[in-house]
Amino acid sequence: MQKAGILVLISIVAVGLIFPGLGVGSSSEEELCVPMGEITLAPPERDYEAKRSAVEFPHAVHFDYNCQQCHHTWEKEPEILSCQTSGCHDLKQTPAKNSNRPAVSFFKNAYHEMCIGCHKGIKAERKKLIQSGRVLKGELPRTGPTGCTECHPKE
Ligand code: HEC
Ligand code: HEC
Ligand code: HEC
Repeated sequence: MQKAGILVLISIVAVGLIFPGLGVGSSSEEELCVPMGEITLAPPERDYEAKRSAVEFPHAVHFDYNCQQCHHTWEKEPEILSCQTSGCHDLKQTPAKNSNRPAVSFFKNAYHEMCIGCHKGIKAERKKLIQSGRVLKGELPRTGPTGCTECHPKE
């Protein structure tokens, strides 16, 4: 059953490749609106009192990376889901240890792990490069902020 399904899929793709003018598979060419400027990242609006100011995230500055590095469900889902989609990073606190939800279900843990995790990783790489004493041919790799007020300008 599954094999037949895969075969049909392959033949549709093949027809699309051989006869691109037929418009086969045009449904996969729907437009995707990609925000190029700053995206304001904020906590859930309902029943949550923010401790820090919202974060201005320069989206396109990060386009050297694979989209899926951050939009990690995009391979399986046809659409890009917002991070706080129900069942994803939608909790307002770290779930209890015996809960079946991972710690990154709390939106703050997810963002901090991803954003600060990557920036810190690059910082560590830079430090290693500097300490190695090697003459650097190029520039040190650029990185992003790791200090609280660099991302949350107000407490
Ligand atoms: C460093 C992480 C990162 C990378 C890399 C990244 N994005 Fe994003 N993107 C985000 C975040 C965070 C949001 C805001 C999501 C939210 O509001 O929940 C976002 C939002 C979006 C949205 C709007 C989604 C919505 O809910 O309206 C689209 C579309 C999008 N990104 C496309 C892309 C594409 C295409 C690429 C690759 C060229 C890409 N992104 C690369 C982090 C990233
Ligand atoms: C996979 C690695 C990676 C992830 C994930 C990532 N960043 Fe970055 N970020 C970078 C790098 C690299 C730079 C430096 C880019 C440059 O200057 O060209 C950067 C730069 C920035 C800057 C400074 C931009 C500027 O113009 O100086 C901000 C602010 C920032 N990131 C916020 C975030 C936030 C918020 C998130 C999480 C939603 C995030 N980043 C996730 C790698 C990452
Ligand atoms: C690279 C950017 C970045 C850095 C650095 C960072 N945060 Fe965050 N933080 C975020 C993002 C993105 C969110 C999710 C969006 C939001 O809540 O504004 C968040 C959420 C939070 C939240 C939950 C929302 C709220 O306001 O109650 C708290 C608390 C918080 N951060 C505190 C801190 C503290 C304390 C530090 C320093 C130790 C820090 N953050 C460093 C990006 C960052």
